Amino acid sequence: MAPGLEALAMGAARVQVDDKRMINCRADLNQLVPFRYDWAWQKYLDGCANHWMPQEINMTADVATWRSADGLSADEREIVKRSLGYFSTADSLVANNLVLAIYRHITNPEARQYLLRQAFEEAIHTHAYQYCIESLGMDEGEVFNMYREVPSVAKKAAWSLKYTQALGDPTFVTGTPETDRELLRNLLAFYCVTEGIFFYCGFTQILSMGRRNKMTGVSEQFQYILRDESMHLNFGIDVINQIKLENPHLWSEDFQREAVRMIIEGTELEIAYARDTMPRGVLGMNAAMMEDYLHFIANRRLNQIGLAEQYPGASNPFPWMSEMMDLRKEKNFFETRVIEYQTGGALSWE
Ligand SMILES: [Fe+2]
Ligand SMILES: [Fe+2]
Repeated sequence: MAPGLEALAMGAARVQVDDKRMINCRADLNQLVPFRYDWAWQKYLDGCANHWMPQEINMTADVATWRSADGLSADEREIVKRSLGYFSTADSLVANNLVLAIYRHITNPEARQYLLRQAFEEAIHTHAYQYCIESLGMDEGEVFNMYREVPSVAKKAAWSLKYTQALGDPTFVTGTPETDRELLRNLLAFYCVTEGIFFYCGFTQILSMGRRNKMTGVSEQFQYILRDESMHLNFGIDVINQIKLENPHLWSEDFQREAVRMIIEGTELEIAYARDTMPRGVLGMNAAMMEDYLHFIANRRLNQIGLAEQYPGASNPFPWMSEMMDLRKEKNFFETRVIEYQTGGALSWE
């Protein structure tokens, strides 16, 4: 029986905060409070405060640029297509992994509340990519099939998918060191690598385009997505670290070596994607700069889960990316109109 679906235990002792655990917890999962992980609830609130929808973003200038013969160079056009090609299916992979693999094994209601919010955000992201593809009148078949037709895209998607499949057996349950580690592998693969590394080349390319005043609508969509993704990533890191804290035996030397290997593999795949999408310099960057950036990002991911940096001396050639992630809506870089849900959407009782 999946945790949370058990029959009601009439008269059982009430849930105490100390009964709560991130995995393998027997305390009732249908009671949100008392909170044990305030950070998870706070991230849920922060995610809701950042709510946005793709249709709010004006795509008129992008449509004109995309249609005109000299709006973008051939290399720039290819970057737009590849980015939408990778992301249009990647966010579905992430959403399916949340719902079909991760959710039932995370045995904490406030963390599940965040996962539900994240799942909706992934649906919004898939919607945003679809909205860009439709607005620009792109060949849908070509874009949505890239994850099984373009090798540098397919390799990333297949790498992620195998970690969902590892948990895909309906009889899979956590509770042994082997299966608990399988869940940890999935969290590492999706939060640290897929959302934490695989998104970064495409995001940097598209946001750089926006900074150069090209495809500003697509770029703004990506900016909001990047802000959401940086929250997903931080939530995942906190979950991984909490599991480590509660189950130190899982974080063995062997397993740490495996985690490092996974992050290196992911970094290499993203570097290959960078080389494939940037055979020459474009948008003020090139594959070598992206490699440096990805090494810098990989070091950060390793640090965040308490592992040693693998790329000493890597530097960040794109410091403006961190500003993009923290940007509040009212200080929008591209100055287009956006509904402010946090204040404008609030109900008034006066
Ligand atoms: Fe996403
Ligand atoms: Fe995400």
